[in-house]
Amino acid sequence: MTIVVTGATGQLGRHVIAGLRETLPAEQIVAAVRSPEKATDLGVQVREADYDRPETLAAAFAGASKVLLISGNEVGRRVPQHQAAVDAATQAGVAHLVYTSAPHADDTTLVLAPEHKATEEIIRASGVPFTILRNNWYTENYVPNAQQAIASGVLIGSAGSGRVASATRADFAAGAVAVLTGEGHEGKVYELAGDVAWTFDDLAAEISAIAGTEIRYRDLTADEHRAALVEAGLPAETAGFVVALDRNIAEGTLADATGELAALIGRPTTPLGEGLAAALKEA
Ligand SMILES: NC(=O)c1ccc[n+]([C@@H]2O[C@H](COP(=O)([O-])OP(=O)(O)OC[C@H]3O[C@@H](n4cnc5c(N)ncnc54)[C@H](OP(=O)(O)O)[C@@H]3O)[C@@H](O)[C@H]2O)c1
Repeated sequence: MTIVVTGATGQLGRHVIAGLRETLPAEQIVAAVRSPEKATDLGVQVREADYDRPETLAAAFAGASKVLLISGNEVGRRVPQHQAAVDAATQAGVAHLVYTSAPHADDTTLVLAPEHKATEEIIRASGVPFTILRNNWYTENYVPNAQQAIASGVLIGSAGSGRVASATRADFAAGAVAVLTGEGHEGKVYELAGDVAWTFDDLAAEISAIAGTEIRYRDLTADEHRAALVEAGLPAETAGFVVALDRNIAEGTLADATGELAALIGRPTTPLGEGLAAALKEA
């Protein structure tokens, strides 16, 4: 059995490779990466795989029984990139394709969902047996918010009382490893999320506990939030994106604490405070 992981030099991919190495011999694991020179420390076979250069993908997936396609990070370019990867997996005769998607990708207002929805459709149309991992938010996404809050004494946002069922990248990676090394996951769509859906008031409380000082959540209007982010130095486009995501959170798009990730990994997901504290230490 050969398991190929794309995006293996990314933050999620590195956790997946480490998790696979705990259960499989290194010879059965392939890191399929855009920049092989960044993968020399992974301790597994390395093959070049660039979503923008389809000719690299056929060779990267040759002989693979399973491929984990970790979604790319170039928003707006991902549909043709993922199409190329699915085409290569189909041509290579891959027996099981696993894809990292977004919560309720086929029925959500989440601004990041359309590329994932389109990729899921491409995968279904390919005929390759698949598993979709619809990952909720990484707890680590909130490191910049926590740093800003600790520096200023106030956590700002525009998510209202919306909830986020986040888990750590290590938790989501463990879910991917369980699917890649387990049986009976073909045809399944998993809504993977942390066990607890927290509010920004809860986030402020966890940051307070970490910082040892009281930090409150100040809920802003979208315009106020955008202006504050721009004033703090974010480019206008990025600020608009952050505000759109907070609106999505207020709408409830990330609130579904399904319990499916804990069931898959056989343990509770990492609590918000624990995951955030560890990520802040590493930052
Ligand atoms: N659930 C969430 O909260 C959340 C948050 C952010 C992103 N995501 C999604 O989840 C994915 C994994 O998360 P992450 O934290 O590991 O992101 P990441 O650290 O940015 O890793 C993304 C990986 O995609 C690779 N990649 C980008 N363009 C590529 C291309 N043209 N060909 C081949 N590989 C390419 C990158 O390669 P290099 O190592 O060479 O750069 C990197 O390894 C992201 O890419 C994104 O789709 C989810």
